[in-house]
Amino acid sequence: MSGERQKDRNDQFDTAADPVDPSPEVELPEPILESSISIEQTLAERRSVRSYSGESLSLSDVSQLMWAAQGLTQDRFFRTAPSAGALYPLEVYLVVGNVDKMDAGVYRYVPSRHSMVKTLDGDRRDELCRVSLSQPQIRDAAAVVVITAVYSRIMVKYGNRGVRYAHIEVGCAAENIYLQGMSLGIGTCAVGAFEDENVAAIFDLPVDEEPLLLLPLGMCNEP
Ligand SMILES: Cc1cc2nc3c(=O)[nH]c(=O)nc-3n(C[C@H](O)[C@H](O)[C@H](O)COP(=O)(O)O)c2cc1C
Repeated sequence: MSGERQKDRNDQFDTAADPVDPSPEVELPEPILESSISIEQTLAERRSVRSYSGESLSLSDVSQLMWAAQGLTQDRFFRTAPSAGALYPLEVYLVVGNVDKMDAGVYRYVPSRHSMVKTLDGDRRDELCRVSLSQPQIRDAAAVVVITAVYSRIMVKYGNRGVRYAHIEVGCAAENIYLQGMSLGIGTCAVGAFEDENVAAIFDLPVDEEPLLLLPLGMCNEP
């Protein structure tokens, strides 16, 4: 991992220093904590959605979905999803294709600044689709969430059991995305069938970071 990437990764634990990042960064609007749909209704209606209307997502949609996945909450340290020992081994990326006010590219969510840092230029949806058994929902989505784990962050305390914990945590974050999506009319589908090595190569992930789950996002078709 390059020094720059390591510094950037660490800054969630170093909010006081908050180093200026030279890469393009998109500030997200504050998450909205109210909704016209109840949590019970989102649970009752949640489904995996693989077909989308083709409309773009807004920056506010991205804000809500990133916050739901790994946003800061109490004391601006804890997050929306639980984490063993509050060690937070997950990283959340967004492959952007059709989002208002965001250029196509790959962005990494920075919880401490509630912002998206661009890590790669260009529309990567087709590429990602090809290494995900050509599942069309990846190509057709407005954007695709990619959740990775940096195992060392959690294994430092829990040893090999930390791997299990990271896998549990990705499920928690994914369900948050499903339910937040439901309340916004945005469909998603957990996609676990992909080529690990090739996804890691697209994202240029360091050796200790592994992709765990893809979640394509798109506006739901009218019922
Ligand atoms: C870990 C995991 C991996 C999955 N991988 C895929 C996948 O690669 N492709 C896909 O179309 N659906 C995938 N799914 C979605 C399941 O097919 C879906 O959850 C299941 O059919 C139940 O439907 P529901 O989510 O609408 O309740 C996956 C779900 C989970 C939890």
